[in-house]
Amino acid sequence: MTDHATWIPVDIDVGRASPARVYDYLLGGSWNFDIDRMMAQAAIDRMPWVRELARHNRQFLTRAVRFCADAGVRQFLDLGSGMPTAKSVHEIARETDPGARVVYVEQEPVAVAHAGLILSGVDGVEMIGADMRDVDVVLNHPTTTALLDFDEPIAVLMASSLHYVLDAAQAVQTVERYMEAVVPGSYLVLSHISDSGADGADEVNRLVELSKTTSSAGVARSREWIEELLNGLEVAEPGVVYTSQWRPDTRLQLVRALPAHSSLLAAVARKP
Ligand SMILES: C[S@@+](CC[C@H](N)C(=O)[O-])C[C@H]1O[C@@H](n2cnc3c(N)ncnc32)[C@H](O)[C@@H]1O
Repeated sequence: MTDHATWIPVDIDVGRASPARVYDYLLGGSWNFDIDRMMAQAAIDRMPWVRELARHNRQFLTRAVRFCADAGVRQFLDLGSGMPTAKSVHEIARETDPGARVVYVEQEPVAVAHAGLILSGVDGVEMIGADMRDVDVVLNHPTTTALLDFDEPIAVLMASSLHYVLDAAQAVQTVERYMEAVVPGSYLVLSHISDSGADGADEVNRLVELSKTTSSAGVARSREWIEELLNGLEVAEPGVVYTSQWRPDTRLQLVRALPAHSSLLAAVARKP
């Protein structure tokens, strides 16, 4: 069993919850601290289906990565990747092509340390500790340029991470800059918390308020905002829907899932 104390970065603030570690706990992971588990309970109090939200998101990500791989994409840039957890993006992509390459980008130091441990010795897969808003830093990072060929299609993944870019203009520009950097035939995979639904909007807003006490506050955005973000891209069927509704795999779907209990809108869009 791994001794957590041997890899916890010395400079992290264990008195402040981090979304990456709270999310890890909600998914059943163990790379989290007491403060994260308390925050997860506070999140459950505000949104009783928050575990389902996390699981629906993870299942959407799995289906979306398979979709991109089936479309011939062999390279993945996973922005705000979180902890590499069971069924990481590279494991999913490599079911289609064992040579698929993945660059994970994450700003949470525990996730970066964890990735360093579990990805060591895995060729073609690395994590960069960086802020995804620093687009030039990410794109010009030696790991990115070594692993990804920008003359070939790349799937840019922003699963449940863009809502931490609070400034709306910066969020739009961040997406635009990554999509400008990739060739036609590349994909954007997006999931984003939204308060547009009639059901669950109060719970979403309570969760967003709670996030302001963590190391990264989040913001809910409307369905219209998300649809506009995808202008100029070819949005794959079924369009912008809740994560649980995006090409559901009925063998894996959570039992009695209410679409609004996903609370994240999702889409996969191709650069024409
Ligand atoms: C809810 S988790 C989602 C993890 C994973 N993408 C998934 O869908 O399963 C959001 C992640 O985004 C990361 N994140 C938030 N803002 C970020 C930023 N500006 N740069 C890099 N990572 C960021 C957080 O640390 C967290 O790990």
